[in-house]
Amino acid sequence: MHIERICLKNFKSFKDVTIKNMPSFMVVVGANGTGKTTLFDVFGFLRDCLTYNVKKALQTRGGFKELLSRDAREKQIDIEIKFRLEIAGVGRLVTYRLSITEEKGRPLVKREILRYKRGPYGSPYHFLDFAKGQGTAINNEEDFNLPDHALKRESITLDAPDLLAIKGLGQFSRFKAASAFRQLIEHWQVSDFHIDVARGSKDSTGYDDHLSITGDNLQLVARNIKDNHPEIFKHIKQAMQRRVPGIADIQTLDTEDGRLLLSFQDGAFKDPFIDRYVSDGTIKMFAYLVLLYDPKPHPLLCVEEPENQLYPTLLWELAEEFRAYARRGGQVCVSTHSPDLLNAAQLEEVFWLTKKEGYTPN
Ligand SMILES: Nc1ncnc2c1ncn2[C@@H]1O[C@H](COP(=O)(O)OP(=O)(O)O)[C@@H](O)[C@H]1O
Ligand SMILES: [Mg+2]
Repeated sequence: MHIERICLKNFKSFKDVTIKNMPSFMVVVGANGTGKTTLFDVFGFLRDCLTYNVKKALQTRGGFKELLSRDAREKQIDIEIKFRLEIAGVGRLVTYRLSITEEKGRPLVKREILRYKRGPYGSPYHFLDFAKGQGTAINNEEDFNLPDHALKRESITLDAPDLLAIKGLGQFSRFKAASAFRQLIEHWQVSDFHIDVARGSKDSTGYDDHLSITGDNLQLVARNIKDNHPEIFKHIKQAMQRRVPGIADIQTLDTEDGRLLLSFQDGAFKDPFIDRYVSDGTIKMFAYLVLLYDPKPHPLLCVEEPENQLYPTLLWELAEEFRAYARRGGQVCVSTHSPDLLNAAQLEEVFWLTKKEGYTPN
């Protein structure tokens, strides 16, 4: 699954913007306040809508009025995402469109559509079409040999007008495109790595596959990779040895009092350093490697300013690792202020946001 295009209307500074030809590794640059964080938050917003409801997703962002572009002509926020997905053996371009409005102070879904073409000709078919909690969904969408009239259209009433139809329907695999899109939104991740919470010993009981948003489970994920994917751990260690002067070895340490920590061996000294006492950049580089060599990539990973605390020449390799992660199945978006990371990107990977009269123009 690959997101190719995002079209936003009245979503904060994105009053009317279409981002086309999104690559699998996308580097977003632009001055402060041009909308980089806002762009990533489109996915955060959709996830909150999906996990809770539209009202709650709006509330955590200051309410409908805060999210709606300041001088929007219409009281309506539109998010349209086009993604390519293989359905019945063919890569199809699927469109998900969500329009949100407010009536009598209550937010609701004005329209929610999921559509794609069934064949090479004809107009796209609405496999899911809802408004204000009512709508229809096709439940035999993979029967491509059936004529249009044989498709089974179910009428469905949702529990509330501010619920997304993909929330309920996406649970069922027979709604193929809805469930794939729901999974992308649910498993989307924005990494907001905090070195302070990543450091230090952690309760050793537990098991984590993926690095968390803040990186607070770094030790647990590292141990999991070391125990279950030793070849990946070896690769990460070798990368650290090449990039951080002095690093000879990295181990996870289970202490007698049930704690787990990381130890970094500097070749010049006999005793290793525990993670609390190694440099910020060392922890950060290690965390990125743990994140990017994840055996099961997130379908969409966003990282804000990955360059912080890293030595500039390391960013070339990091860009290549983001790309490799994307090739393994996860799309990656990073924002950056680093000329070095920008240099490491290819022209078609770079998206430059600007601001004109208060808004991010097309
Ligand atoms: N409702 C709104 N209408 C128009 N612009 C908005 C609205 N809410 C926030 N903004 C603007 O959107 C921008 C958000 O920028 P942000 O995504 O944080 O930028 P960056 O991450 O690129 O620094 C800010 O300049 C802010 O003034
Ligand atoms: Mg920002």
